[in-house]
Amino acid sequence: MTKIKTVDMAITGRLMGEPLNRVDGRLKVTGKATYSAEYKLPGMVYAVLVGSTIAKGRIKSIDTRAASRAAGVIKVVTHENALKAPGYADNEHPTEPPTGGQPHRVFHDNKVYFNGQPVAMIVADSFERASYAAGLVKLSYEKETHATDFNANIEKAVLPAQAKKNKKSPLNDYDRGTPDAYKTAEVKLEAEYVHPSEMHNPMELQAVIAHWESADRLTLYDKVQGTQPTQNNFAREWKLPVENVKVIATFVGGAFGNGLHNWPHETAAIMAAKMVSRPVKLMLTREQMFTMVGYRPYTWQRIGIGASRDGKLVGISHESVGQTSSYEEFTESTLQQTRMMYAAPNVSTRYRLLPLDVSTPIWMRGPGEATGAFALESAMDELAYQLNIDPLKFRVINHTDRDPERDLPWSTKYLKECYEMGAEAIGWHKRQLQPRMLKDGDWLIGYGMATGTFGAHRRGAKVRAKLFADGSLVLQSAVTDIGPGTATAMVQIAADTIGISPEKITFNLGNSEFPEAGNQGGSSTVASVGSAVVAVCNALKVRIASLLAEKKAEYKGTSPDVLLFSNGTVSLKDGASRLSLSDALKAAQVQDIDIIEEARPGEERQKYSMYSYSVHFAEVHVHAITGQVRVANVVTCADAGTIVNKKTAGNQMIGGVTGGIGMALQEDAVMDHRFGRYVTKDFAEYHVPVHADVPHVKVLFVNKPDTLVDPMGTKGLGEIAIIGVAPAIANAIFNATGKRVRELPITLDKLL
Ligand code: MOS
Repeated sequence: MTKIKTVDMAITGRLMGEPLNRVDGRLKVTGKATYSAEYKLPGMVYAVLVGSTIAKGRIKSIDTRAASRAAGVIKVVTHENALKAPGYADNEHPTEPPTGGQPHRVFHDNKVYFNGQPVAMIVADSFERASYAAGLVKLSYEKETHATDFNANIEKAVLPAQAKKNKKSPLNDYDRGTPDAYKTAEVKLEAEYVHPSEMHNPMELQAVIAHWESADRLTLYDKVQGTQPTQNNFAREWKLPVENVKVIATFVGGAFGNGLHNWPHETAAIMAAKMVSRPVKLMLTREQMFTMVGYRPYTWQRIGIGASRDGKLVGISHESVGQTSSYEEFTESTLQQTRMMYAAPNVSTRYRLLPLDVSTPIWMRGPGEATGAFALESAMDELAYQLNIDPLKFRVINHTDRDPERDLPWSTKYLKECYEMGAEAIGWHKRQLQPRMLKDGDWLIGYGMATGTFGAHRRGAKVRAKLFADGSLVLQSAVTDIGPGTATAMVQIAADTIGISPEKITFNLGNSEFPEAGNQGGSSTVASVGSAVVAVCNALKVRIASLLAEKKAEYKGTSPDVLLFSNGTVSLKDGASRLSLSDALKAAQVQDIDIIEEARPGEERQKYSMYSYSVHFAEVHVHAITGQVRVANVVTCADAGTIVNKKTAGNQMIGGVTGGIGMALQEDAVMDHRFGRYVTKDFAEYHVPVHADVPHVKVLFVNKPDTLVDPMGTKGLGEIAIIGVAPAIANAIFNATGKRVRELPITLDKLL
């Protein structure tokens, strides 16, 4: 039996950074953690979606007779009989008017916008019977010519409507200094980079159970990254008071961004539950995960970059075109890092979108920046070879101590420390300036590195604290945990703030009825919710102090800052009059204390630029005859402020590197454009790294606090774990082979 590792706080004074085991680890490995699809509700029935087989056009006819007669079938739903979601706008085309379009309106009309779009739904008394009947629905279509081929249509790319509408949007064109000044540089490079569509593919399939508790009360057990964003969305869609919608997402089995948006299957389940007056469970198939819940969009980029002979950047021009759907505009910050990463006096960025007859993409693992970093950090490497300068040194030459985009100081930036510690750990001195210099038999050996960055975001959040008579503390927040170990980190932050041992603290999350929290996304949870944990624990101390000052003689006239909270006790600073918190409540004559506190970022965000940084180093071995690539060693270094838990944070870094290996070498959603349909729709065809593909990953943290971001000194970690990994590997492959591959993934055919 593992117990939560106990640290004697009287000795260390701090749990921050300690590698505590996950507080929910045992529930997960023993199967006691309940995920969305695992709830059993009385009278629950099962829904299965039927997807369109064309990419664009109209449904001409639907024959549901055989499906309706099949055993166990309760209802067959199509656009002809669907209950309309009252919040759907009734526009003829979904992009007009609201700028930026809108999510797909399932079963709204007879139009087809993408292949695999839900066109019918079977509700039956079992999943198997619903699945069987789904195969009996017969549809005929009036096809229109579809456009799904990115390269054939790239000329149609446009400035996003969101940018046109809002001139201040960072999606607009950006120029610092002289546009295209790189062309005047002594040494320059122009290159194009291509990133294919990639699918999130978390282990847990997207699933929802919709339960109308009464005519106007809806409960959802839903695999999402935000309970309250989902609550708000469906309250709007079904025109319900927000408090009448409840969303439960206690456990989420990975999400990587596809739970940051609500999708047609969720609406379909809500609709079905209303139509049959029973709770309805709808779980997607793995194949449906490729078309119904977003993906990293196919992206083309062009970089022009130039430097003087001594390695000082003159300018960077970076263009990007990403795909989106015809009905909804999805944008991401592909070009952001190019504006702020290096001390280039002249920088231009151009972001465009290409609407295609495909489903809407969504943020995925280091969204935007991970794609952008492949182009920027590959181009930096290419230019370093042209300059005959070590690529690490080239980056140090162009290091900037001030944000050149906003002309503001950084809150903190320990990027140079990352460069140094990573170079040391990988053995960068072994790397040769010219490619193909290191060999081991038939294997060519190469080293590469790349930088990553992501905004150190923080949002407002609230946390509730209940201190009970036995001295135990329960904290609550609506935030979800998609795997990083949120509850564990929050318990550590609380333990440090109020001096209660972690075994006596419980952190409840994943319920929209808990206090305010946004999505778990954009590497913002610890900074946002952790700050509220600190605030509520401090408020608790103030309350205890004022109660004792009033009710207990020795504490008369004391203020909270002269009290000491440690090891579940409160005392005067010199340790006198020590009381357990349980006795303190008794002395104060209260049963328990229950407080909600809020924490919001302040004006320091206008005075400083806040970013996390990572540097990834890779050693690859490439077989000279077969082109097989083995990632032999990875060192990944992060400047993410204070590290709350070295184990869970280290796990995230390893996860990011694993995703980066997939991005570099394997992941590729291939579409057959004759049908506008993906041909890679399972793990046999769509490859993700397995254990054999991932070497030992050494994780290093600078671990220096940034107290401008939040009181714990943390900066976001999740995204920088992957941003820069793919170019580090691509750069190492060039160092090994002399072959520059600018289109991911780097499969062996591209190396022969
Ligand atoms: Mo992440 S792409 O913010 O889940």
